[in-house]
Amino acid sequence: MKKIKAALIGAGQRGAQAYASYANRHPEELEFVAVAEPDPKRRESFQKEFHIPDKKCFEDWETFFSKDKMADAVLICTQDQEHFSPTVKAMEKGYHILLEKPVSNQPDECAAMEKAVSAYPNVFLVCHVLRYTPFFKTIKRLLNEGRIGELQNIQLIENVGYWHQAHSFVRGNWRNSHSSSPMILAKCCHDMDILLWLADADCSRVSSFGSLGHFKKEKAPAGAAKRCTDGCPAAKECAYYAPGIYIDWKDNWQADVIKKVVSTDTSEEAILEALRTGPYGRCVYDCDNDVVDHQVVNLEFANNVTASFTMSAFSWDCSRVIKLMGSKGEINGRLEDDQIELIDFKKGKKESILIDAIKEGHGGGDYGIMKEFLRLIRENKDGVVDTSALSALQGHRIAFAAEEARVMGTVVRM
Ligand SMILES: NC(=O)c1ccc[n+]([C@@H]2O[C@H](COP(=O)([O-])OP(=O)(O)OC[C@H]3O[C@@H](n4cnc5c(N)ncnc54)[C@H](O)[C@@H]3O)[C@@H](O)[C@H]2O)c1
Repeated sequence: MKKIKAALIGAGQRGAQAYASYANRHPEELEFVAVAEPDPKRRESFQKEFHIPDKKCFEDWETFFSKDKMADAVLICTQDQEHFSPTVKAMEKGYHILLEKPVSNQPDECAAMEKAVSAYPNVFLVCHVLRYTPFFKTIKRLLNEGRIGELQNIQLIENVGYWHQAHSFVRGNWRNSHSSSPMILAKCCHDMDILLWLADADCSRVSSFGSLGHFKKEKAPAGAAKRCTDGCPAAKECAYYAPGIYIDWKDNWQADVIKKVVSTDTSEEAILEALRTGPYGRCVYDCDNDVVDHQVVNLEFANNVTASFTMSAFSWDCSRVIKLMGSKGEINGRLEDDQIELIDFKKGKKESILIDAIKEGHGGGDYGIMKEFLRLIRENKDGVVDTSALSALQGHRIAFAAEEARVMGTVVRM
């Protein structure tokens, strides 16, 4: 098997943790030969882990791309607003590309990318990791096999999780639609992509409602401190009390992930210090957040399939729950479970379809997309274009349309 040489652009949570770990598990398939990352601690830690020579460690993607091509592939894992420009450079140099979502938070850049991608002869995958989970792959197979007849409608619920909302969308990187993206793009472009994939037709109309209902000043408990660590009187009752989330919560891979975001040093002392001084210790009712904490989207597809999607911050677990209704039966499932329920109307019985659920990054999607990316590179032949990136961009268009529909109170025709 040919070993693929890759460079990582942005050695943050997604790049260094979610995807690069694949090279440790499968060193025969993947080798990191370069890294571009401005944070010296992150860069050095990645350099050390993958034995990268000094001359192939760069402080930013601009310097990396100014050099001759030095790998087969790049993983672009910078923040939302810094996806488009490095991707254009990577295309100019002819790298195979794994790009974090969203492709861009600007509709015009997404449109430009749609044109560029359709003519790009190398592998280009957008990290819509849900497509690569055993769960959604099984559902797609069941639909293709006609097991529920003709699909009519889909209900999809994204339970964001109360602590996840507070971490990422109130205190964290995606809290403000101006500095990152609106929620429907930042978090739910995955869902728009999966609905498009399952419905298997272009989207024709979109409507949406939603708002920031809770994480705002007027909802703060009486006398709430600006920081949880400032002796906040609400500490005992508040579910969003930061030390409760970042220190007391243990023995859970999700807790480990968010602790590393708060501080590279995850000792209790270092986390407490980060909560005293950094963004993650701020009162959730006193942040500069503006993204919605609940939203619904209705979609109509060209083949008359309809879908309703709900995202909500206000859930105990982080999960996606789906129901697909067809002319001969229905499918019910929850991404984190190890089985999918299929009911055939005529037979009148429920069948449990066991799946090889993976209890790690996005139901196994983080691992699954890396596996697929490397397979596509190994099998890449000139002129054979994987169309998932184009579909991802159509999913982005649906997200922009849903945001327009929500803000303007209209139904948007696609
Ligand atoms: N696919 C998914 O399911 C999923 C899940 C979460 C986040 N994301 C997306 O992944 C992306 C990264 O998220 P993250 O949580 O890893 O963020 P992060 O902030 O942890 O990582 C981004 C890294 O990019 C680095 N960087 C900044 N400027 C750079 C430059 N000029 N050159 C090279 N590196 C630079 C930063 O220092 C940082 O280490 C975001 O766009 C986010 O929306 C995707």
